[in-house]
Amino acid sequence: METSRRTVIAAAAAAGVAAATAGTAHASGAGGRKPVKELFGTLADGTKVHRWSLENGGTRLKVLSYGGVVQSLEIPDRRGRYRNVSLGFANIEDYVASSPYFGALIGRYGNRIAKGRFTLDGTAYQLSVNDGENSLHGGAKGFDKRVWDVEGFTSGSDVGLVLHYVSGDGEMGYPGTLRATVTYTLTRDGDWRIDYAATTDKATVVNLTSHVYWNLAGEGSGSIYDHELSIAAARYTPVDSGLIPTGELAKVAGTPFDFRRTKAVGEDIREADQQLLYGQGIDHNWVLDKGITARPEHIATLRDPSSGRTLKIATTEPGLQFYSGNFLDGTLVGSGDHIYRQGDALCLETQHFPDSPNQPSFPSTVLRPGETYRTTTVHSFSA
Ligand code: BGC
Repeated sequence: METSRRTVIAAAAAAGVAAATAGTAHASGAGGRKPVKELFGTLADGTKVHRWSLENGGTRLKVLSYGGVVQSLEIPDRRGRYRNVSLGFANIEDYVASSPYFGALIGRYGNRIAKGRFTLDGTAYQLSVNDGENSLHGGAKGFDKRVWDVEGFTSGSDVGLVLHYVSGDGEMGYPGTLRATVTYTLTRDGDWRIDYAATTDKATVVNLTSHVYWNLAGEGSGSIYDHELSIAAARYTPVDSGLIPTGELAKVAGTPFDFRRTKAVGEDIREADQQLLYGQGIDHNWVLDKGITARPEHIATLRDPSSGRTLKIATTEPGLQFYSGNFLDGTLVGSGDHIYRQGDALCLETQHFPDSPNQPSFPSTVLRPGETYRTTTVHSFSA
């Protein structure tokens, strides 16, 4: 019974994907088809990894059950030409072997926790350390390297995926069993919305985000230094040489970090600024002017002048990590068979601030039993 149901879905999937590729099945505002699932690969322990394809409002998304990875996100340029604007790999082996978090869900904690240590309610915790002496993006085996349970849905004019992962008490050193649910929705307008939710059975810290590497001219097409960016933030969090925030909320005015007015990403990136030296470029958290909000509010716009493709980000979160792809070093071959070099993409990760568990003045990342962690980020596309 189960097998035959899957066979029917697979056949529908094949038909749908073929039609979409031929450009004859652009979803209109009338609502999309149910997402379709195919086998993407198999992990060394035999676990199967699936890829889900969904399309709505002119946006096409491919998502892996491994890490909730956005393997491909296609949007049209001003002449209607589609390109995949998200860096990734063509096969599961590359994701397992060497992905710098391409397209992945990040947890339990986006960005760094100093020395992988924090104290909560008088108990000291030691996390998995995987970035020098610090813990980065959840430790050695974070949510980006876990296989999530994924289900496709349609709801009104929306299509989407619900991804579940249960992180055991003590996993990577974090206290409490964390039940995480992430919903990816493509709306009738082609927006990609991410709703994050989590509960715990012991006090813990949580900071979930998404690590898409954007290049709006198309992955593998060269550098993003000509992309134009604005960020609604008058302050950012300067870091030390290990990229841990000093605790200061410094003004962006008069620094290379001032994106309050739109400027090219590369405009000031070679200034002899100590903060840029630490990051080998931009790798910093912006303190969003709006703070934490109940509803997603617009905080950043990224535009590629050559194609016209434009990304607008709205979030409920108080911070944005802008990472200019500094550690891409020409050693990885991406999904389109091109080498990725420094500055070939950038990440805009909505989040709470790095190292918040050790910074009492930063907004809290503590989650307690009985509470539900909820954040939302919306990506809107136009050309
Ligand atoms: C961090 C970078 C890190 C990168 C990993 C970013 O979120 O801020 O420091 O190298 O993720 O690819």
